Amino acid sequence: MKKPVNQILIIFGASGDLTKRKLIPALHELFLQNLLPSNFAVLGVSRTKMTDEEFRQQAGEFLPADDSVREFSNKLYYQPLMVSEKDEYIKLIDRLDTISKKNNIDKNYIFYLSTPPSMYGIIPGNLANCGLNISEKYFRRIIVEKPFGTDLQSAKQLNVQLLKFFNEDQIYRIDHYLGKETVQNMLVTRFSNGIFEPLWNHNYIDHIEITSAESLGVEQRGGYYDHSGALRDMVQNHLMQLVGFIAMEPPVVVEADALRNEILKVFQSLKPIKENMVEKYVIRGQYIHSKIKGQEVLGYREEDGVDKHSRTETFVAMKFYIDNWRWAGVPFYIRTGKKLPTRVTEVVVHFKKAPHHLFGLEGGIAQENNQLVIRIQPDEGILLKFGMKTPGAGFNVQTVNMDFHYSDLSAEQIPTAYGRLLHDCMLGDASLYARGDSVEEAWKFIQPILYAWETNPSIPVFGYPAGSWGPDVSDNLINGGQWRYPCKNLTNDGTYCEL
Ligand code: BG6
Repeated sequence: MKKPVNQILIIFGASGDLTKRKLIPALHELFLQNLLPSNFAVLGVSRTKMTDEEFRQQAGEFLPADDSVREFSNKLYYQPLMVSEKDEYIKLIDRLDTISKKNNIDKNYIFYLSTPPSMYGIIPGNLANCGLNISEKYFRRIIVEKPFGTDLQSAKQLNVQLLKFFNEDQIYRIDHYLGKETVQNMLVTRFSNGIFEPLWNHNYIDHIEITSAESLGVEQRGGYYDHSGALRDMVQNHLMQLVGFIAMEPPVVVEADALRNEILKVFQSLKPIKENMVEKYVIRGQYIHSKIKGQEVLGYREEDGVDKHSRTETFVAMKFYIDNWRWAGVPFYIRTGKKLPTRVTEVVVHFKKAPHHLFGLEGGIAQENNQLVIRIQPDEGILLKFGMKTPGAGFNVQTVNMDFHYSDLSAEQIPTAYGRLLHDCMLGDASLYARGDSVEEAWKFIQPILYAWETNPSIPVFGYPAGSWGPDVSDNLINGGQWRYPCKNLTNDGTYCEL
């Protein structure tokens, strides 16, 4: 893999959780793989007063205790800064100059906004005010963390604000799902094989199902989550991006604009769920108190930071269509939730049944349609389920599994999403970052649902016991079928399942 040119990564909001939990470990991983630029530094910036040494210690909290960390930590610096005050930025420029001289680094900068979203309108302006947005001799890029707005209007506003100071090709909107190896593999599975793509359309596919389940609740993020909910937190971004990868047409080349044009087209073809259809097509739920393995588990409304009467959804299941040539009439079902029985994300492609029941009905047809299960996490892999003859008399058919697990492919760990995405940005490759127009398009699809929920209190919020698969009514969404209830292990179905 390529090594990026010399540069400095400036993290705004560096005293926050994301920096020590995700960004620093991802950078350390790149360091171990020798994928960081030869001359490289990280400058953490936030209001908290801290020395370089204190920052190094805080940043190291989630790193292993070994020698590699000492060498890596030398690349970390910290600058306290009132980021909302434009006069403060002179300190930033001075510090960047000193670091680049000391380490012989060119003035190529990536600015990472890991701050509360209220700062997204302010920091880019302050950077521009002192010329730090100008990409000429040296590059200047800006990475923005989600949320990209909280509805269609605020997303548009955010794009306008960013584009006032940076060009679209300098803006990297990070969606960590696109950094997952298995998500990228959906493109490779589809477009590097001759066997799947001819079947990948309404002629052969009955429906597509996407589940992203989490066993954790809202943990310490009740305050944020109660104003967000699962639709904004997971569906508008991560799950819509998965839909984009599953449903897109083959891009002409694997390059940022070609790929992102195809994702945009998918979003533009989403059949709107009108406000009066929301109750029928979208189910919302909230976890309630229960006992799991003998342990009392709090309900969502009892969590810290959550309103005691909150109607925020911790579960969403929905059905929708993509109105284009390839997908005409094929229902897509997606669901996501907190405090479900296990942590699993997977896409299930259900192929149509054989047109004629040659082997009779009694045990003679595979009970399920042929399925291709693309497991995003954990036990990353792919599973194909199809009918085989049960040995013995007659022609009885049973469903069998053909499976591939990433763990069989290499002994190496699958790279983390943040590592992949940071490395791409260092190389100037925005293929796996969301583009502004598609973010707005995804909001356009979600907006009527948000509006219906906010304005029509008669649309129920179904309670589901923590540790269950969400409200029972979500089963009714799938006409004549049911969700696949996945286990921790990809192939562990139909048997005892450890959750
Ligand atoms: C984040 C959401 O974007 O994604 C969290 O804000 C969620 O609420 C997380 O838990 C899920 O990510 P992953 O990689 O654990 O599936």
